[in-house]
Amino acid sequence: MRGNTYVVSARRRPIVAIDGPAGAGKSTVARRLADALAFILVDTGAMYRAVALATGRAGILWSDAPRLAAFAEELVAERALSFERDPDPLVGVRVRVRGEDVSEAIRTPHMAQGASTVSAHGAVRAVLLELQRVAGRAGGVVLEGRDIGTVVFPDAEVKFFLTASAEIRATRRHAELAAKGETATLSETLRDVQRRDAQDEGRAIAPLKRAESAVLIDSTDLSFEQTVACMLEHVRAAESAR
Ligand code: DC
Repeated sequence: MRGNTYVVSARRRPIVAIDGPAGAGKSTVARRLADALAFILVDTGAMYRAVALATGRAGILWSDAPRLAAFAEELVAERALSFERDPDPLVGVRVRVRGEDVSEAIRTPHMAQGASTVSAHGAVRAVLLELQRVAGRAGGVVLEGRDIGTVVFPDAEVKFFLTASAEIRATRRHAELAAKGETATLSETLRDVQRRDAQDEGRAIAPLKRAESAVLIDSTDLSFEQTVACMLEHVRAAESAR
């Protein structure tokens, strides 16, 4: 920064936006892409999850939009939320609220549902939007979420909409949960995934939808490696076209 003026380099590295429904594999793919490109990784779902966890613990109802937004604003103003890249590929982003490591606590089906509920409130979204823009505006960044290519960075150089059939997404999510010792059945997991899809796609503000310019990737019949390779090719093509 020079004085009060931000110097934006014309050669800024791209912003890569990855949106898509629950369980599409955005997090694992985003991690791998960020590593391969040496880009920063921003997991915006983790921000909504952290707000759901912190407000739940503070006894604030996830339906109480004004109190949720005021609490989220306080957390941001106090710099009480931190998101730090973890070298462990299974962790991805280490999340702290007021110094407490909540990386695992936010990854439960209950917090997924809580994040989806709090994220439907425009006032909560407005608070986190600012945080997301600050985190990504310098470029050289992979952001994953639901509205990155449509709202947060509509001018992102590369946009993906990553999806897969609900059954495949539930099967993958169920395997992840089982590996962590969670006991949810496959049909419960499928129901959770479908409920969250309906909530995230049906909300009035920044609903989950494919940006017109987003590359659609349906990973139903693709392996993880194939998905990553295809996405990397798009990013590299966009970089070399600049
Ligand atoms: O990606 P995730 O499962 O961690 O996201 C949890 C919830 O947060 C998701 O169901 C909806 C919400 N979310 C959102 O509304 N906008 C984003 N950019 C990211 C997540």
